Amino acid sequence: MKIYTADEAGFCFGVKRALNIIDRLHESNESIEIYGQLIHNNTVLNDLKQKGIDYINDLKCLDKNRKLIIRTHGILKSDEEFLRDNKVSYVDATCPLVKKIHRIIEKVNSTKNKILIIGNSDHPEIRAISSYAENGLIVNSVKELDVLKYNEPVSVVAQTTLDSGFFKMMISEIIDRVEHIEIFNTICSATIERQEAVRKLAPKVDFIIVIGGKNSSNTKKLYNISKIINENTFHIEKSSELNDTELQKKFRHFSSVGITAGASTPPEEIEDVKVFFRNFKTEKES
Ligand code: F3S
Repeated sequence: MKIYTADEAGFCFGVKRALNIIDRLHESNESIEIYGQLIHNNTVLNDLKQKGIDYINDLKCLDKNRKLIIRTHGILKSDEEFLRDNKVSYVDATCPLVKKIHRIIEKVNSTKNKILIIGNSDHPEIRAISSYAENGLIVNSVKELDVLKYNEPVSVVAQTTLDSGFFKMMISEIIDRVEHIEIFNTICSATIERQEAVRKLAPKVDFIIVIGGKNSSNTKKLYNISKIINENTFHIEKSSELNDTELQKKFRHFSSVGITAGASTPPEEIEDVKVFFRNFKTEKES
């Protein structure tokens, strides 16, 4: 089996930064807990748990004897105010690119503009972003734009992991509906690079393996982009899923695999998948 890896895959700088923050605190014997899942990857979360670093989902469960780490996706503005008002000891591991969106929104709040936030309203990053907006609206489909009024100016931001093609399509639909628009392309560079890399790789190989958490937004986007180009696209969380006999039957007919991974996928998981395919015998090879 010929193995190709996407030019950009796996951990982004925001995830590396958050893990470095935790490593430093852990090495200095600081007792820590995380507010929410640090990132959407079970291997990483389990590794942290083994080091005694767990996460809480509710500030009511806060252990004031521990330092609190804020997840990469950010938290609600009201939660951050609660931490400050109650003098909770915390370190903010929110990705700076997410923080930048909070700052953009705070500036737009002083204008008359409605803030359109393109993204998934269930995702913690979008919940946090929208909590900063005084006049905000989360939209994730063209249908949801029907409420816009032509003479109401809008400022637009995007979820950092949005599909860039979807963002362009939504912008052109918004332009048709309003007189004044201010656009902030807040899709992060790591997302764009990974999406471009899979667009390049998917047509060149027989099948694509996308590695990453099943609830990881950027991994799911990589899967969707690849699936449109190459229908033989498979999303796995870890290499052990490749032991599935039905999957292996399919793989045996192929001779080249492309591998990509979401921004929260550790390098060891990518390596495990490569090792699996190095040892895998295709029909022609057996
Ligand atoms: Fe930050 Fe983008 Fe990663 S927003 S956490 S660099 S996917």
